[in-house]
Amino acid sequence: MDTHFQNDPFKASLDANKEYWYCTCGQSDTFPFCDGNHEGTGKLPIKFSEEVETDKWLCRCGRSGRKPYCDGSHQQGG
Ligand code: FES
Repeated sequence: MDTHFQNDPFKASLDANKEYWYCTCGQSDTFPFCDGNHEGTGKLPIKFSEEVETDKWLCRCGRSGRKPYCDGSHQQGG
């Protein structure tokens, strides 16, 4: 099955105190945000929010150790 994982992070403009759901399955059409397509994949989204309005780099490679945020793992290949 195709996924939307990519080898670079996504810069998201996030509102203060808004609930976001980060997609961990890669199937979302609104990746890296969950759109409910994880049903049947065994994966669940990660809920997150910010206390202030901010821009954040979100992981799109699926390998970050601090999801939903990029930790540079996409640069380490395979
Ligand atoms: S669509 Fe991927 S976790 Fe929800």
